[in-house]
Amino acid sequence: MEEPAAYRFDPQTGTLHGATGRYDKRLKDLAGLYADEAAFAEAVRRDGARTVYRVDEVRPPVAHGGLIIGTTAMEPGRIGREFFLTRGHIHAIPNRPETYRGESGSGVMLLESPEGDVRVLAISPGVTVVVPPFWIHRSVNTGADRLVMTFCYPADAGQDYAIIERAGGMRLRIMDDGAGGWIAEPNRHWRGRSAEEIKAIRLAADAPQDGGPG
Ligand code: NI
Repeated sequence: MEEPAAYRFDPQTGTLHGATGRYDKRLKDLAGLYADEAAFAEAVRRDGARTVYRVDEVRPPVAHGGLIIGTTAMEPGRIGREFFLTRGHIHAIPNRPETYRGESGSGVMLLESPEGDVRVLAISPGVTVVVPPFWIHRSVNTGADRLVMTFCYPADAGQDYAIIERAGGMRLRIMDDGAGGWIAEPNRHWRGRSAEEIKAIRLAADAPQDGGPG
Protein backbone atom coordinates (compact mmCIF):
# COMPACT_ATOMS: atom_id res chain seq x y z
CA MET A 1 0.00 0.00 0.00
CA GLU A 2 1.24 3.46 -0.85
CA GLU A 3 2.51 5.43 2.13
CA PRO A 4 0.99 8.87 2.78
CA ALA A 5 3.62 11.53 2.21
CA ALA A 6 4.28 15.26 2.38
CA TYR A 7 6.71 17.01 0.04
CA ARG A 8 8.37 20.38 0.39
CA PHE A 9 9.27 22.55 -2.58
CA ASP A 10 10.93 25.92 -3.04
CA PRO A 11 8.46 28.37 -4.64
CA GLN A 12 11.33 30.47 -6.05
CA THR A 13 13.38 27.71 -7.71
CA GLY A 14 10.79 24.96 -8.12
CA THR A 15 13.11 22.41 -6.49
CA LEU A 16 10.95 19.59 -5.13
CA HIS A 17 12.58 17.70 -2.27
CA GLY A 18 12.06 13.95 -2.51
CA ALA A 19 11.32 14.08 -6.24
CA THR A 20 11.50 10.70 -8.00
CA GLY A 21 12.23 12.29 -11.35
CA ARG A 22 13.53 15.45 -12.96
CA TYR A 23 14.03 16.58 -16.55
CA ASP A 24 15.40 19.73 -18.11
CA LYS A 25 14.22 21.05 -21.45
CA ARG A 26 17.01 22.97 -23.12
CA LEU A 27 16.55 25.51 -25.86
CA LYS A 28 18.03 23.17 -28.49
CA ASP A 29 15.39 20.53 -27.56
CA LEU A 30 12.57 22.90 -28.53
CA ALA A 31 13.10 23.20 -32.29
CA GLY A 32 9.99 23.81 -34.35
CA LEU A 33 7.93 25.38 -31.58
CA TYR A 34 8.58 29.07 -32.17
CA ALA A 35 7.27 31.29 -34.96
CA ASP A 36 10.56 33.09 -35.63
CA GLU A 37 12.85 30.32 -36.88
CA ALA A 38 15.77 32.67 -37.60
CA ALA A 39 15.63 34.09 -34.06
CA PHE A 40 15.45 30.54 -32.70
CA ALA A 41 18.51 29.44 -34.72
CA GLU A 42 20.44 32.48 -33.49
CA ALA A 43 19.44 31.83 -29.86
CA VAL A 44 20.55 28.18 -30.15
CA ARG A 45 23.85 29.28 -31.71
CA ARG A 46 24.44 31.64 -28.76
CA ASP A 47 23.47 29.18 -25.99
CA GLY A 48 21.46 26.16 -27.08
CA ALA A 49 22.26 24.29 -23.85
CA ARG A 50 20.48 26.78 -21.63
CA THR A 51 17.56 25.36 -19.68
CA VAL A 52 14.19 26.82 -20.66
CA TYR A 53 12.19 24.79 -18.16
CA ARG A 54 12.72 22.12 -15.54
CA VAL A 55 10.17 19.65 -14.19
CA ASP A 56 10.51 17.89 -10.82
CA GLU A 57 7.95 15.20 -10.06
CA VAL A 58 6.92 12.48 -7.65
CA ARG A 59 5.33 9.42 -9.24
CA PRO A 60 3.39 6.87 -7.19
CA PRO A 61 4.39 3.19 -7.17
CA VAL A 62 1.19 2.20 -9.01
CA ALA A 63 0.03 4.46 -11.82
CA HIS A 64 -3.63 3.49 -12.06
CA GLY A 65 -5.54 5.34 -9.38
CA GLY A 66 -2.50 7.34 -8.27
CA LEU A 67 -1.55 10.99 -8.62
CA ILE A 68 1.62 12.59 -9.97
CA ILE A 69 2.59 15.83 -8.24
CA GLY A 70 5.40 18.14 -9.25
CA THR A 71 6.78 21.53 -10.09
CA THR A 72 7.54 23.31 -13.36
CA ALA A 73 10.13 26.10 -13.27
CA MET A 74 10.29 28.16 -16.48
CA GLU A 75 12.97 30.75 -17.11
CA PRO A 76 11.94 34.15 -18.50
CA GLY A 77 12.80 34.92 -22.10
CA ARG A 78 11.61 35.28 -25.67
CA ILE A 79 12.42 33.99 -29.14
CA GLY A 80 11.82 37.06 -31.25
CA ARG A 81 8.57 38.46 -29.82
CA GLU A 82 7.36 35.07 -28.56
CA PHE A 83 7.62 34.23 -24.88
CA PHE A 84 9.30 31.03 -23.67
CA LEU A 85 6.86 28.12 -23.64
CA THR A 86 6.62 24.44 -22.77
CA ARG A 87 6.28 21.83 -25.51
CA GLY A 88 2.64 21.21 -24.63
CA HIS A 89 0.52 18.07 -24.89
CA ILE A 90 -2.82 16.37 -24.53
CA HIS A 91 -2.90 13.46 -22.12
CA ALA A 92 -2.41 10.07 -23.76
CA ILE A 93 -5.63 9.08 -21.98
CA PRO A 94 -7.23 12.31 -23.13
CA ASN A 95 -9.98 12.57 -20.54
CA ARG A 96 -7.49 12.90 -17.70
CA PRO A 97 -7.53 16.40 -16.10
CA GLU A 98 -4.75 18.39 -14.40
CA THR A 99 -4.32 21.37 -12.10
CA TYR A 100 -1.59 24.01 -12.16
CA ARG A 101 -1.09 26.45 -9.31
CA GLY A 102 1.05 29.58 -9.62
CA GLU A 103 3.77 29.79 -6.94
CA SER A 104 6.02 32.59 -8.22
CA GLY A 105 6.31 34.68 -11.37
CA SER A 106 3.53 35.16 -13.90
CA GLY A 107 2.44 33.54 -17.10
CA VAL A 108 -0.45 32.01 -18.96
CA MET A 109 -1.86 28.57 -19.59
CA LEU A 110 -2.71 28.18 -23.26
CA LEU A 111 -5.51 25.65 -23.83
CA GLU A 112 -6.97 24.20 -27.02
CA SER A 113 -9.71 21.63 -27.49
CA PRO A 114 -9.47 18.93 -30.18
CA GLU A 115 -12.08 20.91 -32.15
CA GLY A 116 -9.89 24.04 -32.01
CA ASP A 117 -11.57 26.10 -29.28
CA VAL A 118 -8.95 28.15 -27.45
CA ARG A 119 -8.59 29.64 -23.98
CA VAL A 120 -5.81 31.72 -22.43
CA LEU A 121 -5.79 31.81 -18.61
CA ALA A 122 -3.43 34.01 -16.60
CA ILE A 123 -1.52 32.25 -13.83
CA SER A 124 0.24 33.90 -10.89
CA PRO A 125 0.81 33.12 -7.20
CA GLY A 126 -2.41 32.02 -5.55
CA VAL A 127 -4.15 31.15 -8.83
CA THR A 128 -5.03 27.54 -9.67
CA VAL A 129 -5.83 26.70 -13.29
CA VAL A 130 -7.95 23.63 -13.96
CA VAL A 131 -7.17 21.84 -17.22
CA PRO A 132 -10.34 19.84 -17.85
CA PRO A 133 -10.40 16.49 -19.67
CA PHE A 134 -9.59 16.66 -23.42
CA TRP A 135 -7.81 20.03 -23.40
CA ILE A 136 -4.34 20.40 -24.96
CA HIS A 137 -2.24 22.56 -22.62
CA ARG A 138 1.00 24.54 -22.73
CA SER A 139 2.49 27.02 -20.23
CA VAL A 140 4.06 30.33 -21.23
CA ASN A 141 6.23 32.57 -19.05
CA THR A 142 5.11 36.12 -19.85
CA GLY A 143 6.95 37.73 -16.92
CA ALA A 144 10.44 39.04 -16.23
CA ASP A 145 11.08 36.41 -13.54
CA ARG A 146 11.09 32.64 -13.30
CA LEU A 147 7.59 31.16 -13.42
CA VAL A 148 7.13 28.36 -10.90
CA MET A 149 3.97 26.27 -10.82
CA THR A 150 2.93 23.15 -8.96
CA PHE A 151 0.86 20.56 -10.81
CA CYS A 152 -1.15 17.45 -10.09
CA TYR A 153 -2.67 14.87 -12.48
CA PRO A 154 -3.70 11.21 -12.57
CA ALA A 155 -0.61 9.03 -12.82
CA ASP A 156 -1.97 6.95 -15.71
CA ALA A 157 -2.62 10.03 -17.90
CA GLY A 158 0.55 10.02 -20.03
CA GLN A 159 1.45 12.70 -22.57
CA ASP A 160 0.87 12.93 -26.33
CA TYR A 161 3.04 15.67 -27.83
CA ALA A 162 2.45 14.77 -31.49
CA ILE A 163 -1.11 16.12 -31.49
CA ILE A 164 0.37 19.64 -31.58
CA GLU A 165 2.95 18.85 -34.27
CA ARG A 166 0.30 17.31 -36.55
CA ALA A 167 -1.77 20.50 -36.40
CA GLY A 168 1.17 22.78 -37.23
CA GLY A 169 1.42 23.97 -33.62
CA MET A 170 -1.19 25.39 -31.28
CA ARG A 171 -3.74 27.78 -32.71
CA LEU A 172 -2.52 30.80 -30.70
CA ARG A 173 0.92 32.21 -29.94
CA ILE A 174 1.65 34.38 -26.90
CA MET A 175 3.69 37.38 -28.01
CA ASP A 176 5.25 40.47 -26.46
CA ASP A 177 2.82 43.33 -27.11
CA GLY A 178 5.63 45.90 -27.06
CA ALA A 179 4.12 47.66 -24.05
CA GLY A 180 5.23 45.38 -21.24
CA GLY A 181 2.44 42.85 -21.64
CA TRP A 182 1.43 39.96 -23.85
CA ILE A 183 -0.99 39.43 -26.70
CA ALA A 184 -2.38 36.21 -28.19
CA GLU A 185 -1.90 36.10 -31.96
CA PRO A 186 -3.06 33.48 -34.47
CA ASN A 187 -0.52 30.88 -35.60
CA ARG A 188 -0.65 31.07 -39.41
CA HIS A 189 0.69 27.49 -39.70
CA TRP A 190 -2.16 26.00 -37.67
CA ARG A 191 -4.28 23.65 -39.77
CA GLY A 192 -6.57 22.08 -37.21
CA ARG A 193 -7.68 18.48 -36.96
CA SER A 194 -9.87 16.34 -39.19
CA ALA A 195 -13.25 15.03 -38.04
CA GLU A 196 -11.66 11.57 -37.97
CA GLU A 197 -8.83 12.67 -35.68
CA ILE A 198 -11.23 14.47 -33.34
CA LYS A 199 -13.43 11.36 -33.16
CA ALA A 200 -10.41 9.17 -32.38
CA ILE A 201 -9.38 11.48 -29.54
CA ARG A 202 -12.88 11.48 -28.06
CA LEU A 203 -13.04 7.67 -28.31
CA ALA A 204 -9.60 7.25 -26.69
CA ALA A 205 -11.01 8.31 -23.32
CA ASP A 206 -10.55 5.56 -20.75
CA ALA A 207 -8.71 3.34 -23.21
CA PRO A 208 -6.86 0.82 -21.05
CA GLN A 209 -3.14 1.55 -20.73
CA ASP A 210 -0.40 -0.83 -19.65
CA GLY A 211 -1.57 -2.76 -16.63
CA GLY A 212 -4.80 -0.85 -16.21
CA PRO A 213 -8.01 -2.79 -15.67
CA GLY A 214 -10.09 -3.95 -18.63
NI1 NI B 1 -0.52 17.57 -18.71
